[in-house]
Amino acid sequence: MKSYGIIILGIETSCDDTSAAIIKDDTILSCVISGQDVHKNYGGVVPELSSRAHQQNIVPVVDQAIKDASISIEEIDAIAFTRGPGLMGSLLVGCSFAKGFALSRNIPLIEVDHLQAHVLAHFIKEKNVYTKTPNFPFLTLLVSGGNSQIIVVENFLQMKIIGKTIDDAAGEAYDKCAKIMGLTYPGGPLIDQYANKGNPFKFKFAKPKVAKFDYSFSGLKTSFLYFVRDRLKENAQFIENNLFDLCASLQYTINDILISKLIKAAKETNIRQLALSGGVSANSGLRTQLTEKSQKLGYETFFTKPKYATDNAAMVAITGYFKYKEGLFGELGAVPYAS
Ligand code: KG4
Repeated sequence: MKSYGIIILGIETSCDDTSAAIIKDDTILSCVISGQDVHKNYGGVVPELSSRAHQQNIVPVVDQAIKDASISIEEIDAIAFTRGPGLMGSLLVGCSFAKGFALSRNIPLIEVDHLQAHVLAHFIKEKNVYTKTPNFPFLTLLVSGGNSQIIVVENFLQMKIIGKTIDDAAGEAYDKCAKIMGLTYPGGPLIDQYANKGNPFKFKFAKPKVAKFDYSFSGLKTSFLYFVRDRLKENAQFIENNLFDLCASLQYTINDILISKLIKAAKETNIRQLALSGGVSANSGLRTQLTEKSQKLGYETFFTKPKYATDNAAMVAITGYFKYKEGLFGELGAVPYAS
């Protein structure tokens, strides 16, 4: 028998994680994420390999999510999927699956923007767990592998981007600098891990001067590359001997750049609630640095659980829930958008 509440199946396939989640109203019942180890040795995501892996994973991942949620397929009221931005071949797998599912079950299809979903991850609730949620309007720093943006979140479905990167995203800076140090992809989590054992003030790297609330990370990446290259000429073991301090100093610099602009935006917009979203927001140093700075200035901070910070379908399902309530349904003719 159908239980009370709106049940949404969320699908996320924008990059290299195949994920499916079931949400009942705003409470998550299950979230299954299947990563793709195949990219590890390439220093980044290989689009063709990614879409092939999604093809293999999508059915078992959805099946598992339904089982974990202890619901029957007939109870699902709508299917929400990431329409973009992301890798076209990867998005197509989720989009085609969602259309087929909606058609066969005769239920509505809901299109979700990946970046909006990252922001709304703050509203995912878990059974019997208190979740502190921000009030509108709040500011979000959305930092992932493809984006670095400062967003004014006016309500669940209305957001305004007031700052963005003019070149690389913060996650790209983490991953590219990790590659320079010979670390495997994705380098962000490894840098985070090693940084905890190092001195953040040992090495200094160039910080960009960019207008307003925009970011730039290409100069930092080049400064890091030249610094490491020059030190290696003097000492071939420089990276091995200084790995923890290199990671700590790099992480501190990236996070300092991110936080300075967020605080500048908070001062100018007079918004006192600050949230972090996206994969890089899982960074422990970023959370600590922002908490310390915010406490001094009297701002309130909001962090999602790390599992809802990186790509996941729970954030797609919660966005689907807010759109369902507004009757914002998609068309079976929907096509993905890469950017
Ligand atoms: O949001 P996400 O999972 O995928 C995109 O939509 O891009 O973000 C992935 C990015 C990668 O660049 C990864 O290195 C970075 O998030 N990342 C981290 C951490 N965890 C993931 N960067 C720094 N510290 C972490 N703990």
